[in-house]
Amino acid sequence: VIGKSTNIFWQECQVGKVDREKLLKQKGCVVWITGLSGSGKSTLACTLSRELHSKGNLTYVLDGDNLRHGLNKDLGFSAKDRTENIRRVGEVAKLFADSGLVCIASLISPYRKDRDFCRAIVPDSRFIEVFMNMPLELCEARDTKGLYKLARAGKIKGFTGIDDPYEPPLNCEVHMQSFINITHLALPTIFCLDSSCSFKM
Ligand code: PPS
Repeated sequence: VIGKSTNIFWQECQVGKVDREKLLKQKGCVVWITGLSGSGKSTLACTLSRELHSKGNLTYVLDGDNLRHGLNKDLGFSAKDRTENIRRVGEVAKLFADSGLVCIASLISPYRKDRDFCRAIVPDSRFIEVFMNMPLELCEARDTKGLYKLARAGKIKGFTGIDDPYEPPLNCEVHMQSFINITHLALPTIFCLDSSCSFKM
């Protein structure tokens, strides 16, 4: 069938994940950060990358906005396109983790089934889902890119949290919650780890 991958075979190489991880002295994994626009995903991704880098870990950040400038420039924000967006980034993240990197993916990834797909393709429980649980009112009050304003004015259709759904994780490894109800600050100020966290950063 033209357009589908058929008659394909898996090729093994002599150098495998174990060898790469030995060389890098670290374990590859995917840290998947999900949340509304303006919830602080990119800030956390960059902070985490910087912290781990300073401790000698090799990291790479996959940012939704950035990837839409290249790999995913053909995709919009329909449900079908978002699903394809997450599928592609999930596959890339899986490869990066297999290469031995700590891959930090930062995307709204609003649909649970798409995040679950990514979790399912990353082997050995090396998928750490981080939920930026910033209330919509705070994200909207910050509105660093002015997108909420445009969405409320009907100039952007299908904006997550306004007229497109966000499905919060049910069983994430890390739950980042804002404690302070500040509507005028430019940054998500204080986050903390939920007591139910199984993963500490
Ligand atoms: S998704 O839903 O996971 O496919 O989105 P993602 O690839 O992470 O891209 C989100 C960024 O795209 C900008 N943007 C929108 N977000 C949500 N809904 C609509 N309709 C939309 N249109 C443009 C916005 O800058 C998002 O970046 P963040 O960093 O989340 O604010």
